[in-house]
Amino acid sequence: VKASGLAAGKGAVVCDTPEEALEAAERMMVRREFGDAGSTILIEEKLTGQEVSVLAIVAGRSIWLMDPCQDHKQVGEGDSGRNTGGMGAYCPTPLLDAATLDGIQREILVPTADALRREGIEYRGVLYAGLMLTPGGPKVLEFNCRLGDPETQATFLRLDDNFAEIARDASEGALETKSLNWRKEAVACVVLAAEGYPGSARKGDEITGIDEAMALSGVTVYHAGTRLEEDRLTTSGGRVLSVCGRGPTLSDALEAAYGGVSKISFDGMWYRSDIGRDTLTKLGT
Ligand code: GLY
Repeated sequence: VKASGLAAGKGAVVCDTPEEALEAAERMMVRREFGDAGSTILIEEKLTGQEVSVLAIVAGRSIWLMDPCQDHKQVGEGDSGRNTGGMGAYCPTPLLDAATLDGIQREILVPTADALRREGIEYRGVLYAGLMLTPGGPKVLEFNCRLGDPETQATFLRLDDNFAEIARDASEGALETKSLNWRKEAVACVVLAAEGYPGSARKGDEITGIDEAMALSGVTVYHAGTRLEEDRLTTSGGRVLSVCGRGPTLSDALEAAYGGVSKISFDGMWYRSDIGRDTLTKLGT
């Protein structure tokens, strides 16, 4: 059950039973927990499987896929509990092989761009397909006409091209490059969240340790919900920081990212400690 309007990535409730679906509909339409965003709701078949994000740069008839990534959207370990905007991502994900990715381009992205063109829209920009890898193949959960957070952090640290040039070319309707170039390394991103998130998050807690984290090899920290009050850095949103680690393999990237996380603290800080873990288990590493 999904609130049709904008709800900061939190408006979709995955329900196991019809009773849970009715409860979700009541929260949206009667209790109005998402305000006007829940005035209209969407009810869809529940899909099961691993979720992946496939982002593409679209310019007219050119569609360049970015390396796929996985974002862990749920609040709890083992992908359980409420949806958030995203608690951590890694790129590339081995959940999609080259043949499946080709199929996604052919059967999902190209027809979507064609359908937009038939409606008189020549789409230029990022098309983000949120997909579920179901036993029956990849199915679309959502499209966004933007990059993802935290997918972007995990993806762009690997990009070996000048994104400003790519964005300029896309906006002019023609991509000069023949494909996007990626560094042969893995990136993992772990989101540090404030107490209360994904509900109303507490603000104003002092953050320490970012410089120590950034001093570690392969670690980059991005700010999201932070604020500089005189010389104190404090929390100012639900998802506070994204801590990214790079390395030759996913295991190395995760080790770097969690090494960075261990240096940072603020009251109420929490994060998922299992980003990429299922995939590592599948890879046998
Ligand atoms: N991480 C999910 C999104 O950006 O929509």
